[in-house]
Amino acid sequence: MIPDMIDKALSYCEKNKKKFVGDLSKLVAIPSVSFPGFPAQNVVKSAKAVADLMKRSGLEHIQIIKFPGAHPYVYGDWLHAPGKPTLLLYAHHDVQPPGRTELWKSPPFKATERNGRLYGRGAADDKAGVVVHTSAVAAYLETAGKLPLNVKLIIEGEEESGSTSLEKFLKKYARKMQADAIVLTDTGNFDVGLPSITTTLRGLVALDMEVKSMDHPLHSGMWGGPIVDPVLAASKILASLTDEQGRIAIPGIYDDVRVSDEDRRKLEAMPYTEATLREQAALLPSARIVGGDRSILEKGWRQPSVSVNAIQASSKKDCANIINESVWCHVGIRTVPDMDMDRVADMLVDHLKTHAPWGVQVNISNISKAPWWKTEPSGPVFEAARRALAKGYGCEPVNMGCGGSIPFVGPFASVLGGAPALLIGVEDPYTNPHSENESLHLGDFQKAISSAVHLYEEIARTSAAGASRPKELAAA
Ligand code: BES
Ligand code: MN
Ligand code: MN
Repeated sequence: MIPDMIDKALSYCEKNKKKFVGDLSKLVAIPSVSFPGFPAQNVVKSAKAVADLMKRSGLEHIQIIKFPGAHPYVYGDWLHAPGKPTLLLYAHHDVQPPGRTELWKSPPFKATERNGRLYGRGAADDKAGVVVHTSAVAAYLETAGKLPLNVKLIIEGEEESGSTSLEKFLKKYARKMQADAIVLTDTGNFDVGLPSITTTLRGLVALDMEVKSMDHPLHSGMWGGPIVDPVLAASKILASLTDEQGRIAIPGIYDDVRVSDEDRRKLEAMPYTEATLREQAALLPSARIVGGDRSILEKGWRQPSVSVNAIQASSKKDCANIINESVWCHVGIRTVPDMDMDRVADMLVDHLKTHAPWGVQVNISNISKAPWWKTEPSGPVFEAARRALAKGYGCEPVNMGCGGSIPFVGPFASVLGGAPALLIGVEDPYTNPHSENESLHLGDFQKAISSAVHLYEEIARTSAAGASRPKELAAA
């Protein structure tokens, strides 16, 4: 590689900052919510916009991949570096629902810049990931007319709704996706300006629970007293999920949780205090930190947790003096190594059913499972990534964990025979993903693009990308 080539690619990035933000803003304008009940047509529109961006970036063999009942993936590649490694670059173009529109300071689907951040649904999670990849590719193809290695881009369209067609996709396209390493731009940095490699992901077991006692709502004055209130019954069931300290109270749930002394030491050595958590999460001063006496980072990354994401009975608007006939709840348990996903699901279902008071009916549906994942960040690919991030951000990267889940990672790494998976993203502790006023730090966005430019060159120089693969560990 001529050193000139990378310099030209980097100065292209510098000159095209505005263009990259423009590309991202165009994607944000499409409300590609992949949840059931939202127009699937918008995810198709967003797939087309991603395909178009890939084309403008110089990628080839662009293809919108569709399965019946699934949201489209978008694929593109550039494979003209024979003898050089191949990278599979991942991001997702679907987004979460906008939430309560009245809480957004600017419209969710109109990317808006304020104080060095770009606000909008998907501005960070994960349309920024898409544009990091296409921009770095374009930087080389627009200047040198070639890349230092081969790339395949796969942009998923249903990550936020649990990657339900992943198995079908893998069955059909495993061969097409073959690569020496995977680069996923869908995680975050430990802090703004601090490049980070994510080495663990939690898994997720989630389900819907309906608690029911009658056929229809009843006047609470006429019937209150002898009649079972399913909302109160569900409250008791949900309350039984945690103990006084806020730890999960399902007996045996912690049996398979493995955190080595070394991992624990590393987590404790990271600069993170209760004050950091309070500030980043904007926690009310009276709210206590819960979850037992492990360190905050261990509780967030390496211990399981339970949450109730939504409850619906009547609504604020329709709130009348009634006893609701039923209540609906969505409950999730974040899992960690070495928990067995099927066992966790069974334990959760069993716990909910056996804690139902007063003979109410408990109906469980839509059980979903996304595996946890863990890697050993060593070998030439991780070393190349550390050099690239140091150059792109101007400071040494750190390793971190992630409390969230990405269903794609575990199955893909194993389909690629344990190929290293590099999780380097552009979110930060102030991004507010899945919440109102999601935003991207524009300085870090640009640094992530420069890092990607460096990464291709650094990995191209490690002649045998697949020579030293880390031991991949993933839940079944
Ligand atoms: N980008 C996130 C994963 C993530 C979460 C990265 C937190 C960094 C910090 C991803 O889009 C996501 O939200 N995943 C879902 C997966 C679920 C639907 C199986 C999640 O974690 O809830
Ligand atoms: Mn994401
Ligand atoms: Mn997300």
